[in-house]
Amino acid sequence: MGIVLRNYESKSKISMFPSRSSGKSKYKISIHSYFENTKEEIQMRGKSFEVTPWEVSGDVDYDRLVKKFGVSKIDNKLLERIKKHTGELHPMLRRKVFFAHRDLEFALEHYRNKKNLFLYTGCGPSGPIHLGHAFVWEFTKWLQDKLGLELWFQFTDDEKFLVKKSSYDEIQKWMYENMLDVIAIGFDPKKTHFLVDTKHASLIYPEAIKVAKKLTYSAVKATFGLKDSDNIGKIFFTSVQAVPAFLPSIIKKKKMACLIPHAIDQDPHFRLTRDILPKLGFYKPASIQCSFLPPLTGSSGKMSSSTGKSIYLTDSPAEVKNKINKYAFSGGQHSVEEHRKKGGNPDVDVSFQYLKMFFEPDDEKLKKIYDDYKSGKMLTSELKNILIEKINAFLKKHQSNREKAKSQIDKFLYKV
Ligand code: TRP
Repeated sequence: MGIVLRNYESKSKISMFPSRSSGKSKYKISIHSYFENTKEEIQMRGKSFEVTPWEVSGDVDYDRLVKKFGVSKIDNKLLERIKKHTGELHPMLRRKVFFAHRDLEFALEHYRNKKNLFLYTGCGPSGPIHLGHAFVWEFTKWLQDKLGLELWFQFTDDEKFLVKKSSYDEIQKWMYENMLDVIAIGFDPKKTHFLVDTKHASLIYPEAIKVAKKLTYSAVKATFGLKDSDNIGKIFFTSVQAVPAFLPSIIKKKKMACLIPHAIDQDPHFRLTRDILPKLGFYKPASIQCSFLPPLTGSSGKMSSSTGKSIYLTDSPAEVKNKINKYAFSGGQHSVEEHRKKGGNPDVDVSFQYLKMFFEPDDEKLKKIYDDYKSGKMLTSELKNILIEKINAFLKKHQSNREKAKSQIDKFLYKV
């Protein structure tokens, strides 16, 4: 099996920690090549990757993606600016899990000066929610709490009907399930508004056609790589995803700035949106973008619902334990003796990556795990057990919230 080092070619450029030189207690994990000069490395160098809103495959090179999409990286200066408003930095910011942006300064400026900034994110309901979705929403909730912002949350049931094989009814069933998970994350019901594309059509459609009129087929085709054989709904859809970026401005009858937390694969939608909105008299939406939680198997792409090897928010403790033990790609050695002698490689170890990206907020504790695993003091089974416990604690709370969410959906649905 091929081993994937994310952002492989750029090695230490995407470091999850500030570098040693920037402060005493700071340290740096360089993403070094585990298989230096081996066949795997040579094969991987030639490997390509693809990132579109509907397909993420291959070994994603985030530096190349940043250049290709034309987004900016979040630097330490910008982190300081965020901290001025939030008081502290979320671990996902400190560790550069949220690593890229468009116009974030502009969004913060609007927050500071006029207090007319809102958040917008969304969910395409086509299957169970897994950890890869949840971590984006956890961060979104943090932003909502720290900045006291309204959040507009779009459910793109139309999109998933158009791009997946599922029937309309299946999508509706998943949307209900997914709403429970979104609510369970803990968003403020007074400040969070669910928009459902097919249910809020009377609100969304008149705005979507305004976007659609300004978007050319050639721009959409080039941006999403559409083919002649694709259905025509896909061509139109991006104008629907654009709408929540300016709908609050219409509802509140004032020009508002929008900040969209999202995984980088959604950027193509908003790149197009940004071209159009000024032509309609609105601000370009700003964004704060994260990388993907790697799949359990550590191979390429992102965690996805379709493989069955993801951790779902409805999994039982035994299922989590089984999946981590069975599938979580390990940076350990083949035998305990060898591991004690040579040490493991946390940089390719999926369990460590999950702790770093999501489940271990304490930098000191994370560093100790990193060092102990690398030196061979900590075994793979021990590392996996730490993660299993963390995930199960998170899911226990989530699942209890999820039960309570069943009576709360109505509170979140936007009332026209
Ligand atoms: N298209 C997204 C998906 O497939 C759902 C979505 C709609 C979204 N609007 C968004 C995601 C805004 C992030 C930000 O999951």
